[in-house]
Amino acid sequence: MIRAVLFDLDGVLTDTSEYHFLAWKRLADELGIPFDRQDNEALRGVSRRESLLLLLKGRPATEEDMQAWMERKNRYYVEYISQMTPENLLPGALNLLQELRANGYKTAIVSSSKNTPLVLERLNLAHWIDAVVDGNAPARSKPAPDLFLLAAERLGVVPQECLVVEDAAAGIDAGHAAGMRTLGLGPRERVGHADMVLPDLNGVHLADLKPVLE
Ligand code: G6P
Ligand code: MG
Repeated sequence: MIRAVLFDLDGVLTDTSEYHFLAWKRLADELGIPFDRQDNEALRGVSRRESLLLLLKGRPATEEDMQAWMERKNRYYVEYISQMTPENLLPGALNLLQELRANGYKTAIVSSSKNTPLVLERLNLAHWIDAVVDGNAPARSKPAPDLFLLAAERLGVVPQECLVVEDAAAGIDAGHAAGMRTLGLGPRERVGHADMVLPDLNGVHLADLKPVLE
């Protein structure tokens, strides 16, 4: 039986995945590296360093270059998210969090992003969340199971009692590696390996999740 629902943040509860894309695109344009939305699909849900390596596609770079480029991308990204308000929650997200809590489920945010605290503050979500595990934790990023396992531990539940909600292939892989059930949001080509797939959380109620909650 599921007792806790672990939500990814970027692309699940809020539209920051678009800001990540815009910030990487800006850096890629400045470096003269071709980069489009299709290329961006591979970056979804993976860490900042891994994203840069994917963007560079084998181009040579020193550690100093890498640090400078990651910092520059993050500067652009922080510019975008600093403008966010609770309006940037995706449709259905807050409603589902509230329904879960009203029905005794525990909730957590589990994100690879080091910017999670700032995004959560902008979205004003703290009240509906029991635990936050983010990219600042001394653990491996998704697709490793570490962040999800840490969240289960903090919530006092075992992995088999957790449902992971993710928009990224790497996130679904991480959930499965942790021994958890998974709900994938987005196209089947991306999250078709999840236990259940929905386009997004718009109009989704607890009853719709019955197949993965029982
Ligand atoms: C999330 C996003 C990724 C991002 C990663 C690191 O997983 O889906 O697109 O690269 O976090 O984010 P950060 O804010 O730490 O650069
Ligand atoms: Mg995501």
